[in-house]
Amino acid sequence: MKTVNVSICTGTACHLMGGAHLLTFDEMLDPVTAGHVTLTGSHCLGLCGDEKNGKAPFARVNDRIISDATLNKLLRAVREEIGLESD
Ligand code: FES
Repeated sequence: MKTVNVSICTGTACHLMGGAHLLTFDEMLDPVTAGHVTLTGSHCLGLCGDEKNGKAPFARVNDRIISDATLNKLLRAVREEIGLESD
């Protein structure tokens, strides 16, 4: 399995829209999946200033931008990146 980098935006706009909650993402992972996920917080990802990027909070899963991010959206994206789910 490949490593999946999950970056949670901790900038003000994302924080106000619930982004801080996303930093608990690793707690919902099973041990095998968790071993392949690197979770980090990030300063503003630069996505909140343009409506075409969607709504805050934002996160990145490898190169994928996740808008209006939720724990379940992150889990789905991670599983897709690992190859456990198809799009
Ligand atoms: S504060 Fe999150 S993308 Fe700007």
